[in-house]
Amino acid sequence: MEAKRFFTAYSLIGILLFAVLLMEGCIQGEGKTAENSASEEPRSLAEAYEGMFKIGVAVNGWQVEGEDPQSLPLITKHFNTITAENLMKWSPIHPEPNKYTFDAADRFVAFGEQHDMFIVGHTLVWHSQIPDWTFEDESGDELGREALLQRMKDHISTVVDRYKGRVDAWDVVNEAATWSDGLRKSKWLEIIGKEYIDKAFQYTHAVDPDAELYYNDYNLWAPDKRKTVVKMVKRLKENHVPIHGVGMQGHYGLESPSLKQIEESIKAFSELGVKVMITELDVSVLPSREDANISYNPDEGDGADNEVPEALNPYKEGLPDSVHQQLRDRYVQLFELFKKHQDKIDRVAFWGLNDRQSWLNNFPIPGRTDYPLLFDREYQPKPALYGVLEVAED
Ligand code: GLA
Repeated sequence: MEAKRFFTAYSLIGILLFAVLLMEGCIQGEGKTAENSASEEPRSLAEAYEGMFKIGVAVNGWQVEGEDPQSLPLITKHFNTITAENLMKWSPIHPEPNKYTFDAADRFVAFGEQHDMFIVGHTLVWHSQIPDWTFEDESGDELGREALLQRMKDHISTVVDRYKGRVDAWDVVNEAATWSDGLRKSKWLEIIGKEYIDKAFQYTHAVDPDAELYYNDYNLWAPDKRKTVVKMVKRLKENHVPIHGVGMQGHYGLESPSLKQIEESIKAFSELGVKVMITELDVSVLPSREDANISYNPDEGDGADNEVPEALNPYKEGLPDSVHQQLRDRYVQLFELFKKHQDKIDRVAFWGLNDRQSWLNNFPIPGRTDYPLLFDREYQPKPALYGVLEVAED
């Protein structure tokens, strides 16, 4: 009896002590990592960068369908612009010649409106995530120029008209340039010629003259690709084609590209008189095959039975503090650069909310564990987020 009372008294003291420690934040809640337990609840990224540029995030189907409820308060707190990650691409929205599937896109747009966000539609004309029938007639033969232009026009008119006055901006053409030698040899280029780009912008503008229209591409820091796109935008402007911005996809690594290369491109595009946007921002922390000196190729069977070699997937069990720090430093440097050019940059948008959802876990090598974003797999803020916030406040 005595012993039981003794035990109960100590249990009570223990519970009280635990509650006090919890309130003081000394005990980490589930999913909290050591690095952020010392930090306060972060302030809103969008508020921190108010007056400099918009802060955006790509939103996916699960989020708009309500299947990822933990994402929503973070999206609405930290971002004032959203981009459709996949759900407005040709394949999902126009899977068959006479069939459009707008449900997910409708919810995406309604979500943006409900939270008063700047809504970016992505993307109208691209060579990827587009069904083969787009380029074929009913017998499977390749379409002629006029027929393909008509098909492009119908697609653009139908999609843009549905969201007219609601979607604020469109990535009209995505990834039309190549690394080195000019325009990508896509079906669009092969069948129509380079005017397919002009036409895509003109068709979009004709339907919604108030929407902002962008060209979006990756590796635009690379001098050759920058040159191609500068030439393209100049030509479009000379032809009075309505283009309002260039989106530089920011799929970066810890070391590359250099800040100087990124800066050169920000300046070059801005000098053309268009808005510059950093789109699709993420920073992979994983080594490339060249870095790891490994020729592993999942497409040739290596990936079927074998796990990705550890040298290519070193952080399966978690990210060491030292790499968290490197990621933070890289994000700090990038945002210092963006802040320096705030007069040219209109929007900086991340390609996803948290590490679990990032496409980089499966690209360019499927089945890896990457850490490219500002929130971790448990939706907790990473040191990189605090770094980006500090840059805004400096
Ligand atoms: C490109 C496209 C995006 C997306 C990413 C990978 O950057 O523009 O829509 O497909 O690849 O997620």
